[in-house]
Amino acid sequence: MFDAYGRNIHYLRLSVTDLCSLRCRYCMPEGVEKLAHGDILTYEEFLRLAALFARCGVDTVRVTGGEPLVRPGVEQLVAGLKATPGIRKVTMTTNGVRLAEKLPALLAAGLDSVNISLDTLDAETFRRITARDELAHVLEGIRAALASGIPVKLNCVPQAGVNEGELETIAALAQEYPLQVRFIEMMPIGCGAALPCLSGPELLARLARRWPQLRPVSGAAFGDGPAVYYTAPGWQGSVGFIAAVHGKFCGSCNRVRLTSQGFLRPCLASETGTDLRALLRGGASDEQLLQAIREVVFEKPREHHFEDRSMPATRGMYQIGG
Ligand code: GTP
Ligand code: 5AD
Ligand code: SF4
Repeated sequence: MFDAYGRNIHYLRLSVTDLCSLRCRYCMPEGVEKLAHGDILTYEEFLRLAALFARCGVDTVRVTGGEPLVRPGVEQLVAGLKATPGIRKVTMTTNGVRLAEKLPALLAAGLDSVNISLDTLDAETFRRITARDELAHVLEGIRAALASGIPVKLNCVPQAGVNEGELETIAALAQEYPLQVRFIEMMPIGCGAALPCLSGPELLARLARRWPQLRPVSGAAFGDGPAVYYTAPGWQGSVGFIAAVHGKFCGSCNRVRLTSQGFLRPCLASETGTDLRALLRGGASDEQLLQAIREVVFEKPREHHFEDRSMPATRGMYQIGG
């Protein structure tokens, strides 16, 4: 399915819940109200919509949150997505807290790969960033994912004065293990808007001083996302940069987002979109839903305007699904 700028939209991000077991300072404030159960889409509703997206050419689905593993039975959704004709790849982005426990069921359901947040390797800094004491469980989740052999990416948001001193140590995980360590520029979305951060180019320059042999790499093994990757001789894995602010990649965007409440957003950074839940629950036919999906895709904005700091996005990342 193509948008008005000729971009092929074949990647759907499904946020299955707003809830999360952590409270990352740049993402989710304390005291967030729990949505009523009936407000979020059922797995049957997600699967009906996913089948329609697949008819429009979506072949990749990423299950996100909030934290997807806090929603009971999410492995059934993964299995249902994998069984949907046209959907080739089903992946998940998780905070890792319950990953070790849930991984066997996810693998049995056919999960293809996993992205795990890891901003620090220090227990005290982890508590400072996430307001919870869960680093040991996250590391257990990462070890379990690596041992299973599925592709693993780690997501790290560099934050000035917080995890700044350990970014080389985190990057070095890619030297030692077959995984991709990605550094994500803080986006001015929700609580992230107020926090000082490091830019992708700044960090790349820092890593290149430590590892002068770092060279760009690309290819199918690096997924369908916006990260740009580098590796060096002798490394097991690679480091990637998601420079959403300083390296705008909107021109090659391939995705749309469905929130847990069934709101279809054509772009991470704009509030526009359509309430598919209202259509679904109002008895819309497949044809009516397909038309609504195509209209949202066609209205996808050309790009974000994160550089305009006077207008930070008010919705949190946990509500949009990252
Ligand atoms: P793959 O590369 O396919 O594995 O996925 P991904 O990197 O897109 O997914 P992940 O959920 O791990 O997201 C990592 C970071 O990239 C998060 O901070 C997302 O918000 C950000 N991101 C993903 N897609 C987009 C996008 O279209 N625009 C922007 N600005 N950021 C994005
Ligand atoms: N800017 C950049 N990345 C963010 N994430 C959450 N909020 C922000 C933000 N404001 C990251 C998390 C997680 C990924 C899905 O999104 O760290 O790894
Ligand atoms: Fe939870 Fe992810 Fe947001 Fe952290 S970034 S609070 S792990 S949804």
